[in-house]
Amino acid sequence: MQTDAIHLPAIPAADLESPPLAQADTIPSRWYWDPAFDRLDRDAVFARTWQGIGHAGQVRSEGQFFCAEVAGNPVIVIRGKDGVLRGFYNVCRHRGGPLAVEPEGCVRALQCKYHGWTYLLDGSLRGVPQFDRVELFDRKDYGLVPVRVAEWEGQVFVNLWADAPPLESYVQGIVEQIAPNRLGALRFVWRVEYDIACNWKVYVDNYLEGYHVPHVHPELVKLYDFQSYRTECFDWYSLQHSPLSGTANLYTSGEGEAFYYCLFPNYMLNILPGRLQTNLVLPLGPARCRVVFQYFYTDPDAPSVRKLIEEDLAYSDAVQREDIDICEQVQRGVESRAYDRGRFSVQYEEGVYHFQRLLKGAYRAFLAEPGTNGGSRP
Ligand code: FES
Ligand SMILES: [Fe+2]
Repeated sequence: MQTDAIHLPAIPAADLESPPLAQADTIPSRWYWDPAFDRLDRDAVFARTWQGIGHAGQVRSEGQFFCAEVAGNPVIVIRGKDGVLRGFYNVCRHRGGPLAVEPEGCVRALQCKYHGWTYLLDGSLRGVPQFDRVELFDRKDYGLVPVRVAEWEGQVFVNLWADAPPLESYVQGIVEQIAPNRLGALRFVWRVEYDIACNWKVYVDNYLEGYHVPHVHPELVKLYDFQSYRTECFDWYSLQHSPLSGTANLYTSGEGEAFYYCLFPNYMLNILPGRLQTNLVLPLGPARCRVVFQYFYTDPDAPSVRKLIEEDLAYSDAVQREDIDICEQVQRGVESRAYDRGRFSVQYEEGVYHFQRLLKGAYRAFLAEPGTNGGSRP
């Protein structure tokens, strides 16, 4: 169990309240740069929410695994001999060594890289070399520590918190809203990561509003019918949608609709006909984050589709660079002496408000618990 010198922040009760959108302030600027809030985000938010860390194609067959870091913890997800997908801390019960060091792979058993303890794919401890004179030791007591894992529409999520509601309750309604799109039928094609010099919340805020699109993305604005842009908020996610404009667009003859979901706190599903892009936003410190993009398509090997995919990747990359540039400048703005908090556009920024309301709720719930006094982590 790790302890560190950074204490949880003292937050005035009024800052954790959420007045109606039309009256609300944005969150205080300190929340975007203070190391105490980085730590609070880790413990109150990332260690307690479903984290979409991979996709089902990585763990289709027995022994296939991938690794990730969740709220500072090394995690491994692996498919068992019985076909069950399981998650564990990637931490040996002997002295904390790693079971896997590669990002992904396929194994018959998990062997610790430090002294060679061996675990079966279900996490039970099997092989313990040179341990015969140890007393009061039962291998049954030293299985890998499990982590909750769930698959949904071809995506793999984990949650470090035993008391979190099931994943289904977070994503409830999405499958019906996007029909006839079927995310689970798409195939993984490409993954790319971007490291950005801003707090993860700056990036999420920016994602959640169309207000900036005409100013930051002059090309993107041509693809969509922005008069019809709408935001809808649900329990754990918000949805921005906009009909495609019917002129040039990347996949279709102009039919269909774009759906932009943000699942609290840091996971996005960007859906166009025949294509899904997921974004996972990971804090790397108070003023740095990493965004992992994964792309999935219908029938990606068809020659005609390949060309569209290349165009899509290049186009998305260009849009992302525009967002990175503005987010890095916003980080400097919220760190400046000039800025504390602002207001929301009711028409365009309801998604940001919704995210910040859920964030305040997560802080409130965590800080109200006994024992969260800054001394230890859950
Ligand atoms: S730490 Fe794993 S075998 Fe020693
Ligand atoms: Fe943007």
